[in-house]
Amino acid sequence: MKPRVIQIGRLQPSLETALAEEFDTHPLWREADAPAFLAKNGGQFVGMATSARFGADAKLMDALPALRVISNFGVGYETIDVAAAQKRGIAVANTPDVLTDCVADLALGLMIDVARGLSAAERFVRRGDWLKAQFPLATRVSGKRLGILGLGRIGKAIARRAEGFDMQIRYYNRRKLDDVAYGYAPSLVELARWADFLIIAAAGGPATRNLVSTDVIDALGTKGFLVNVARGSVVDEPVLVRALGEKRIAGAALDVFADEPNVPAPLLELDNVVLLPHIASGTHETRAAMGNLVVENLRAFFSTGRVKTPVA
Ligand code: 8YV
Repeated sequence: MKPRVIQIGRLQPSLETALAEEFDTHPLWREADAPAFLAKNGGQFVGMATSARFGADAKLMDALPALRVISNFGVGYETIDVAAAQKRGIAVANTPDVLTDCVADLALGLMIDVARGLSAAERFVRRGDWLKAQFPLATRVSGKRLGILGLGRIGKAIARRAEGFDMQIRYYNRRKLDDVAYGYAPSLVELARWADFLIIAAAGGPATRNLVSTDVIDALGTKGFLVNVARGSVVDEPVLVRALGEKRIAGAALDVFADEPNVPAPLLELDNVVLLPHIASGTHETRAAMGNLVVENLRAFFSTGRVKTPVA
């Protein structure tokens, strides 16, 4: 008999198909009354497939008393209550490594876009403005100072790429790392004060909420650019929106927002802001690899009792 796996929200079609081939899946998102469905059938499910968008809280785990494993589509899992899972003996897996390159690629793309004004220049051409004027000069990237908030797998991949642009690199992290030669900033404010570009690559969740505060934004200053490929929650978004409107920083390039898919309306009016719909991992290659890992984690758990890539 195939293990019964509950799917909390919609996942990419190829992953839904792969899950359904290997497991006895049930789409919770199709239930009009999910609590009633769970009250009646919750005890059947031993596995769960979810992603950060849908998460899994303690209440949901309580409604699934036989649950043994949660497989998350994505590296970020801040909406899964890992402590609650551990208490219940539920294994939690995510999809690290396979998306690192694509997320880091996009971070560099965003940094160059916001500094050189690629998106703004493209709008300029489409509007026919080139026929009337020259596009204004922009800001150089090569050789500049890059501060990275969060030097995990993705932060390190961003740093490696930035070395190719002869950038000076420093970072701020929960702790100083012994295996890197980049300078460690004693505080995020000091990193921001030093940096021309501040890229956010830290995990989301309560530990990093609003870390990029008024002080950090003001330290980045009128010539500084902010890039976020992590989570909108890491930035105090209303503060950032105000600072951008008041030109207290030079610009921002954002792939993530506090309340996706809602983007603060004032940002839509600003030409020094690049706005993307959370696409850092969104390539055919990477999303296929992420999907495979979601399935592999469940398969590994049901055959060996251990997931391949546990979250902690
Ligand atoms: C999402 C992400 O998983 O990995 C993460 O943490 O944010 C993305 O890769 C993807 O958008 C699916 O929700």
